[in-house]
Amino acid sequence: MSVVFNREIACYFLAPKLCIATMKLIKLLDSTVGQKVVAGATGLALVGFLLVHMGGNLQIFAGSDALNQYAVLLKSSAAVLWTARLGLLSLIVLHIAMTVRQSVRNRSQRDRRYAKTTYRRTTRASRSMMMTGLLVLAFVIFHLLHFTGGLILPDAYKQTDAEGRHDVYAMVVAGFSNPFIVMVYVVGMLGLSVHLKHAISSALQTLGLAKEGHQSSLRKASPVLAAVIIAGFLAVPLSVVTGLVAVDEVTAGEASSAIEAPGGDSASPDELSVTVAEQTLKDDRR
Ligand code: HEM
Repeated sequence: MSVVFNREIACYFLAPKLCIATMKLIKLLDSTVGQKVVAGATGLALVGFLLVHMGGNLQIFAGSDALNQYAVLLKSSAAVLWTARLGLLSLIVLHIAMTVRQSVRNRSQRDRRYAKTTYRRTTRASRSMMMTGLLVLAFVIFHLLHFTGGLILPDAYKQTDAEGRHDVYAMVVAGFSNPFIVMVYVVGMLGLSVHLKHAISSALQTLGLAKEGHQSSLRKASPVLAAVIIAGFLAVPLSVVTGLVAVDEVTAGEASSAIEAPGGDSASPDELSVTVAEQTLKDDRR
């Protein structure tokens, strides 16, 4: 107790404004209303990220040059890239921390706070949010290991295009030529769709942007927005599976165009991950 008291005095003495702001923030994050507001606001900010990311992914339909150039643009400034990454990470951590705290609090106070029927409905919804949230988190970890870390299909990750840029286009095509990876993305997107359907309208309501009781147009638009996001994300793997998007032979660079399929012809997307592996082995031996 006296340690906390002394720390508070030292804090007020050294940086009073920062100290008061920090205390207010701690108080806010400790209150039920504060936790709901922070969970809703961080959730909506993450939806904003999803919309931007989905828009970027759809550049695959403009061809490999457009997508690879977009990827170069995203990484052109290390300072901006790492600020954005840390911002995104903070949003995710805050969102998870606030929703878990609310769920724990609701559970411990359930008998006192809710009438029986309301409680049943509330816990079913919150349990489904927790399950789908965990599924989305598992998907994001897999996704980062796959496309950002290059640890799932490392040879597909190493490719460069004719301009010497990271060949994100070929990496995505090689990734979705693998049925296991397609399955992981489809399951991840299904989890995300269930999570978003409930989360968007709930966040809008918490933040006072949609009134409880009657369906405002914003609330009615929530499932539509969730469906648009999921359709936009699923469009990429499904286009590779159906052959609508395939390896661009003209702009593919060393690692992809120089690779030949076992028969002497250029590699098809299906053969790509195998032939890229062979090429990397040859390079390693040289
Ligand atoms: C089929 C759907 C998706 C595709 C094709 C896709 C594609 C990609 C690609 C290619 C990258 C790496 C970009 C680069 O290094 O140049 C990336 C990064 C990332 N994606 Fe996705 N993505 C999809 C869905 C999602 C979803 C649903 C989420 C979140 C729930 C997500 C979150 C991220 C994050 C956090 C990064 C890391 C950004 C960074 O490098 O800092 N992605 N994605």
